[in-house]
Amino acid sequence: MLKKRVFIFLMGILLAWQSFVGEANALKLSEKVRTIPLNEEGDMITLSNQEVAKGAALFKDNCAQCHIQGKTKTNPNVTLSKQALANALPARDNLLGLMDYIKHPTSYDGEEDLSLLHMNTERPDLWPEIRNYTEDDIKALAGYILVQANADPKWGNLSLIDN
Ligand code: HEC
Repeated sequence: MLKKRVFIFLMGILLAWQSFVGEANALKLSEKVRTIPLNEEGDMITLSNQEVAKGAALFKDNCAQCHIQGKTKTNPNVTLSKQALANALPARDNLLGLMDYIKHPTSYDGEEDLSLLHMNTERPDLWPEIRNYTEDDIKALAGYILVQANADPKWGNLSLIDN
């Protein structure tokens, strides 16, 4: 009887420990994946796991409805893949470029202001969803997109996505 209780007690500890380790692992990305271009000059920056997790949550809340898996629902040509971001003008495959887009979105060739058409933080009257974003939130969100593009070759890559 006592043996059985000890056994159950030990199993309980083991299960609790396993789920604790499992959760910790789920949030841990390698430093390589978290290291992304900072600017067009080729400087790099490494985000923390916490920043990436925060960016993922913001993306899920406000962007995933159109940009799930890095695709773009209403304009499939302008995805969030590394390649698409790299070829935009100015280039958006770096943290500062992407942060700038979240503040002042422009057309793919950089010619037209899209702030009336695409959500952004500079027109809180039009886009209340992201009105309260701080500079840190914008950094986390932009960073998450680039980390995701690093980690997953399917991200935004139409030829690899099987619908
Ligand atoms: C209602 C749908 C919708 C939502 C919501 C949305 N987007 Fe977009 N996004 C688009 C469309 C459409 C485009 C293409 C715009 C164009 O014609 O250039 C786009 C383009 C982009 C681009 C440019 C991609 C490139 O390859 O140059 C980025 C970056 C982007 N969105 C980020 C975001 C982020 C971050 C959020 C959440 C805060 C968001 N979008 C929310 C529809 C949406």
